[in-house]
Amino acid sequence: MAIRYTIDSIEIDWGLLKLDLEQDDFHNGRTIEQLRDSFAHSQRVVYAMNQQRCIGTARALSDGVCNCYVVDVWTQSQFRNKGIATKMMEMLIESVPGQHIYLQTDDAVGFYQKLGFQPQPEGLHLVSGEWLQN
Ligand SMILES: CC(C)(COP(=O)(O)OP(=O)(O)OC[C@H]1O[C@@H](n2cnc3c(N)ncnc32)[C@H](O)[C@@H]1OP(=O)(O)O)[C@@H](O)C(=O)NCCC(=O)NCCS
Repeated sequence: MAIRYTIDSIEIDWGLLKLDLEQDDFHNGRTIEQLRDSFAHSQRVVYAMNQQRCIGTARALSDGVCNCYVVDVWTQSQFRNKGIATKMMEMLIESVPGQHIYLQTDDAVGFYQKLGFQPQPEGLHLVSGEWLQN
């Protein structure tokens, strides 16, 4: 199995990706268009591909200067523990030199710590109005 990594969103079948995310219980309600747009509007994206199928994602919102926020880090269940998310994260990290990278996770703390991330309490959050309006 040869996994390759791409930053080219043109390769992604967004409908299929949405189905795979739902099957993995890692879907947050975005429509196919919202899923595509959230990646299109991100400064950095990385996809892991098994032949033509996307089996991993990671994306970063960055101001291009000093701050970066990483989201949608996912490896499809049957491909986990093969270093795929590590490779995607390394590509994202290398793509934003000099920037402070922040992220939030509930149950993958150990994964991020292996990449060098350190806990930084306290995080605060708020949704502006109702979730998913665009
Ligand atoms: C977390 C996730 C992205 C890891 O993907 P992956 O491709 O399996 O990760 P890797 O194979 O690169 O793992 C690298 C290391 O992190 C460890 N690791 C993986 N997932 C972990 C987790 N949830 N908690 C702690 N450690 C984890 C692995 O055991 C491995 O350790 P090793 O190098 O000592 O063998 C994947 O489990 C996933 O998609 N989970 C559901 C979505 C999710 O929770 N994403 C993060 C949201 S912020």
